[in-house]
Amino acid sequence: MLGHSVAIISEMSASIPASFRKLVVKKLTPVFKEAVEIVQQDLIRPCNNEILIKNKYVGINASDVNMAAGRYFSQNRSLPFGLGFESIGEIVDVGEKVAELKIGESVMHMSYGAFSEYVYTPEEEVISVASAKPELLPLLVSGATASLSLDKCGHIVPGEKVLITAAAGGTGHIAVQWAKNVGCYVIGTCSTQEKVKFLEDIGCDRPINYNQECLNDVLTKEYPGGIDVIWETIGEETFNILSKHLAVKGRLVIAGAISKYIESKLSYRMKNDLPMQLLLQSATLSGFLLPHFKSDIPHYLSLLVRLMHEKKIKLFIDDGSSQEKPFNGLEDIVRAMEYLYSGKNKGKVIVAL
Ligand SMILES: NC(=O)c1ccc[n+]([C@@H]2O[C@H](COP(=O)([O-])OP(=O)(O)OC[C@H]3O[C@@H](n4cnc5c(N)ncnc54)[C@H](OP(=O)(O)O)[C@@H]3O)[C@@H](O)[C@H]2O)c1
Repeated sequence: MLGHSVAIISEMSASIPASFRKLVVKKLTPVFKEAVEIVQQDLIRPCNNEILIKNKYVGINASDVNMAAGRYFSQNRSLPFGLGFESIGEIVDVGEKVAELKIGESVMHMSYGAFSEYVYTPEEEVISVASAKPELLPLLVSGATASLSLDKCGHIVPGEKVLITAAAGGTGHIAVQWAKNVGCYVIGTCSTQEKVKFLEDIGCDRPINYNQECLNDVLTKEYPGGIDVIWETIGEETFNILSKHLAVKGRLVIAGAISKYIESKLSYRMKNDLPMQLLLQSATLSGFLLPHFKSDIPHYLSLLVRLMHEKKIKLFIDDGSSQEKPFNGLEDIVRAMEYLYSGKNKGKVIVAL
């Protein structure tokens, strides 16, 4: 038996290269392609409770741009630093104190620096999965954000009207389904008729293509009593429109501001009468940033996995196949990021490594 496992280890080690490549931030700027470069690093054996993972797929997040610009926890990092929040892959080596996990097992995990062919991480930081399928990636940053923000900040309850922005995107499509599972009526905003169809297919009650219908007019006409919970990820102009449509005791959750991320300064021009609007509606405005809810993530991931197994939530990935060719390799991360920012994606943007 021992001889057998030694044989496996030496076989795996033989396939591990002497060095690997990773994407790092070399210059702080929201112009993603100017911020990053691919560098080579020596591959050493993991030590203590660390495992070494060969990444097979990485998830692309709108906020990668914020990390690259030196916002969001990257202010005090010295350049160059690793980028990327999430990946799924296979364990290729383990430190001497690793107790549970074995070489050859598939795992997914969230940590800074995921845009890398290989990553080191403590064994307790990963989630074991049956196989390293890209379809699971939306569960991590997107799934945790959608569920936690709607629950902890939106406090959504059955029967409420919930509006999800960027509803067909990586995070939005899970937010729509999470809210439907809670028993809410869900309105989702998007930019194309193809996305409208996608939103209908995942159970969204009222998809709004804001390029074809005026968002303000639709909300005024169809929801005169206002919206109970607004999940806002676009920023400024959209925020200013949506904030006028909060119901009495409504909750507006700021979970993003994608329209601002590519600007040099991440700032909002808010309407001055917002505090008065909140007062007159007994409404609440709150912000949500996933790392602040780290201790809640395992619980919400387990809820999402259960919903997925019960087929109550469907996860969708977008590998860019609809474009010239699927995203493949670290070189394609810039292309994948530009694709996400073009607004063409349906579901979670992923890159195969
Ligand atoms: N707070 C947190 O911890 C946290 C964590 C994860 C994600 N988020 C936020 O959730 C939002 C979605 O992130 P994601 O990574 O899942 O991306 P995504 O939704 O997969 O892609 C972004 C989508 O945003 C929409 N969009 C609307 N206006 C845009 C604009 N001016 N520029 C670019 N895109 C625009 C596009 O959909 P349409 O064209 O259909 O509108 C686009 O497909 C982001 O604001 C992100 O920061 C927050």
